Amino acid sequence: MKNRVVAITGGNSGIGLAISELFLAKGYKVAIFAQSVERMESFQKRSPENVFIYPGDVSVSEDLEAFYLRCYELWGGIDTVIANAGVALPEGVADVTEESFSKSVDVNFKGVFFTVQKSLKYLDKGSSIILISSIQAQRGAGIWSVYGATKAAVRSLARSFAQELGSKGIRVNTLSPGVTDTPILEKFGFGESNLNEILSKVSASTPLGRIGDAGEIAKAALFLASDDASFITGADLQVDGGLAQI
Ligand SMILES: NC(=O)c1ccc[n+]([C@@H]2O[C@H](COP(=O)([O-])OP(=O)(O)OC[C@H]3O[C@@H](n4cnc5c(N)ncnc54)[C@H](OP(=O)(O)O)[C@@H]3O)[C@@H](O)[C@H]2O)c1
Repeated sequence: MKNRVVAITGGNSGIGLAISELFLAKGYKVAIFAQSVERMESFQKRSPENVFIYPGDVSVSEDLEAFYLRCYELWGGIDTVIANAGVALPEGVADVTEESFSKSVDVNFKGVFFTVQKSLKYLDKGSSIILISSIQAQRGAGIWSVYGATKAAVRSLARSFAQELGSKGIRVNTLSPGVTDTPILEKFGFGESNLNEILSKVSASTPLGRIGDAGEIAKAALFLASDDASFITGADLQVDGGLAQI
């Protein structure tokens, strides 16, 4: 995989960081687009010639355009695009405000759309696009109505993109994690003891009896990016310990 280039949004935290680390270890050049880039200094220092960090907001398409242009100037093209940046705002239907609704849609849906659109002119035959959705796209739960809908939108985008880009030899798939141990869990604001209780219940209803590790999601992303997945497009790979499969 020497000299292959992956561009990932939200590659500075949780699942995105695990993907960035794994792809770098496998010989990829890694371009990371995220808002808080200061915490990535040590990651960049590990392999300065193979890591490029760009500060931006996925809901601002000009930021994405500038990011891809810099990647192209640096490395001449992109092989894998991973639309991973996302927010999860738990709110019951009565509590959702226009502001929080727009934030979820702007980052999780609009952000994913333009992450793909702005990358297209730099992708060639054999490229892979991976959209990070969620098992919540196919499930119902009060506090996740808006989040689940944005992730279902992402699943829908992958189907249409796969159909449209297949003739160009570009594969598009979603990767849907189940509950995975990342900083997003603390951002829910449930408080430590409530969160632990919820995670215990989730683990108990998961066939493998636990929540996921970000590294396990990263391995699935590496598979979808690789030639081992050369005949897989329009699919949804669910990595959830079986939670949504039974
Ligand atoms: N963890 C889970 O249980 C789980 C389950 C299913 C799906 N997912 C999905 O997996 C993806 C990664 O989540 P995670 O669990 O790794 O959470 P995380 O650690 O909170 O990471 C979220 C990432 O999104 C980035 N981001 C958020 N808003 C952004 C914006 N406007 N512009 C650019 N970047 C932005 C964040 O960067 P900054 O910090 O710089 O804002 C951060 O890197 C998300 O799409 C999430 O919905 C997670």
